[in-house]
Amino acid sequence: MKIINGNKIAQALRNKIATKVKPLERAPGLAVILVGDDPASAVYVHHKDKACKEVGFYSEKINKPSDITQQALLDEITRLNNDDKIDGILVQLPLPDHLDASLVIETIAPEKDVDGFHSENIGKLMQNQPGLRPCTPKGVMSMLATTGVDLVGKNCVVVGASNIVGRPMAMELLNARATVTICNSKTINLSGKLKNADIVVAAVGRPKMIQGDWIKSGAIVIDVGINRLEDKLVGDVDFDTATHAAWITPVPGGVGPMTIATLLENTLIAYQNRK
Ligand code: GUN
Repeated sequence: MKIINGNKIAQALRNKIATKVKPLERAPGLAVILVGDDPASAVYVHHKDKACKEVGFYSEKINKPSDITQQALLDEITRLNNDDKIDGILVQLPLPDHLDASLVIETIAPEKDVDGFHSENIGKLMQNQPGLRPCTPKGVMSMLATTGVDLVGKNCVVVGASNIVGRPMAMELLNARATVTICNSKTINLSGKLKNADIVVAAVGRPKMIQGDWIKSGAIVIDVGINRLEDKLVGDVDFDTATHAAWITPVPGGVGPMTIATLLENTLIAYQNRK
């Protein structure tokens, strides 16, 4: 079993981005909006801000109270849409219940939607046209590329069908001409679906739900889950019993750092497209 080292791949990507940023006359700018004080979200936003500084981006971290009105949040996005220093806008999800996340996402200018969640960018992904693509699935594709394994025709099972990961992940794999099955936490006989999976992407958010003996020998296992369990972080896959996989991503140090490095990659693309 070989480890796909997300920290190392992400560092290489950040170094590549930093080299491209140096000769630019203006630093690419990313604005990250955090509503409320969810501790996990605050940690992610802090990592994004730190990564921006490392590669030489201009970064704005905008904290808003959890009781912000819908209109005030939309006004903030409109301000950033019109701010020439800003190439990418990200609103950290989830949002408090009184806010309409879809409306918030649709208000972000599609050319600044570095999360790739706007319907225009999701539509382009669906049609395999160039556009800003969701960071986690795009980062997973970069990680898969490092294994050197050809995806064409392979059986891929994506477990989880969220807008942020599962759905765009399935589309990325389909665009790479793989054979894709999308499962979710309610799938009947999930182990049966996994039996023939050459590539498994787990993104259900349930600690160790996928047992090692469900994984086919020689499979590639990508674990997107980040679950807090007894004061440590575990994935959706039971890492310790999946030793017969050919490749596996650890948690932490797997997909997480790649999501953030890919956000930087998208911000640089948004900068170049806007120029
Ligand atoms: N919450 C969890 N993952 C993400 C992500 O990729 N982008 C945003 N905006 N919020 C998230």
